Amino acid sequence: MAVYLDYNASTPLCAEARTAMSAFLAESSHMSLCGNPSSSHGYGTAAAGVVDSARASVAAMLGVPDARDSIVFTSGGTEANNWAIKGLLPHLTASGKTHVVTSNVEHPAVEVVLASLEAAGALTVTRVAVDAHGCVSADAVDAALRPETGLVTLMLANNEIGSLNPLQAIAELCAARGIIVHTDASQAVGKIPVDVSSLGVDLLTVAGHKLYAPKGIGALYIAPQLGPLLEPLMHGAGHERGRRAGTEATLLLAGLGAAAQAVVDHLEDRAAHMAATRDMLWTTLVTELEAVELVRNSPASGLPNTLSVSFPDVLASDLLEAVRDEVAASAGAACHAGEVTISRVIAAIGVPDKWARGTLRLSTGLYLTEDEAAAAGRALAHGYRALQA
Ligand SMILES: Cc1ncc(COP(=O)(O)O)c(C=O)c1O
Repeated sequence: MAVYLDYNASTPLCAEARTAMSAFLAESSHMSLCGNPSSSHGYGTAAAGVVDSARASVAAMLGVPDARDSIVFTSGGTEANNWAIKGLLPHLTASGKTHVVTSNVEHPAVEVVLASLEAAGALTVTRVAVDAHGCVSADAVDAALRPETGLVTLMLANNEIGSLNPLQAIAELCAARGIIVHTDASQAVGKIPVDVSSLGVDLLTVAGHKLYAPKGIGALYIAPQLGPLLEPLMHGAGHERGRRAGTEATLLLAGLGAAAQAVVDHLEDRAAHMAATRDMLWTTLVTELEAVELVRNSPASGLPNTLSVSFPDVLASDLLEAVRDEVAASAGAACHAGEVTISRVIAAIGVPDKWARGTLRLSTGLYLTEDEAAAAGRALAHGYRALQA
């Protein structure tokens, strides 16, 4: 198998999540955990126990004191982002605060939601430009605020280059003006400490499959004062205290709860491992390619696991194809019908075209060894040389 360098796209289950889900699937739990968490009999309360325990672990991971009120489960990061923005729309409209500030490098799960509401005339949106390191400054956000600004939504960590935004400073200046702050923390949680009280944000998105939990599960943190202002996205029965209808995904929650608890227990060691493998990858690339001028897009202060590298005079998809059997990673540029499209993020930080077309996102994680990182670096260098020849 190729070395997996695409942990920002999705992670495997961690051992803790696998154990919890295996126990759930075991024959001995076949009936005992089959209940609907909303049922009042013993089967229901056993299933509700799985949901409550997952909620407590997610709350602990985010430094949230009151899990019951503040953590609501969703189908993942996309739903949580949709809900944060669309759920606030009635409040923003009623208060005449329909201007939203965001950045020009948000994930489509924020950008496309805003663009669709903008096109429908429901919101006006200012997209603050990031700097050369992919970050939005608090001053730039401050300058974009208007009297009718009701919401600031900014990612905590960027999925392509791993840059981090100063959410704490931004939340402070928004709090002083009564502006709601949402952060898409899908890529940050599980890689860096994320504590909602020190960040001071009102809404925060969690995506399970970026932190070694299964795909199809996530959460939205909702600050207590914001609860009454947020309309449900999913209407139906009274699940999740009336805030998100649909029977809770108990098996997936068993995995998310265990994965969140593992983040609480091992974050520091994990981050050190991610950084060591990322650094091994980079060192190998620059050593192997000697005089070739590689551009490292990921800021030194960014996520510990993310290395965005631009190779000159090559197309990212050609390079990935050349190393297909040895390395699995993501391209920062795509080619369709002969037309090359540079990713919005790589374009926004101003990488010159000669390099931008050859941008790869290499993201490391728990199950990558330093030896594998070095082997992947050598394979990429070899593949690049072969394409140049
Ligand atoms: C920054 C960011 N936000 C949101 C998402 C969407 O999350 P999910 O796949 O759980 O819907 C992703 C996934 O790639 C992401 O990287």
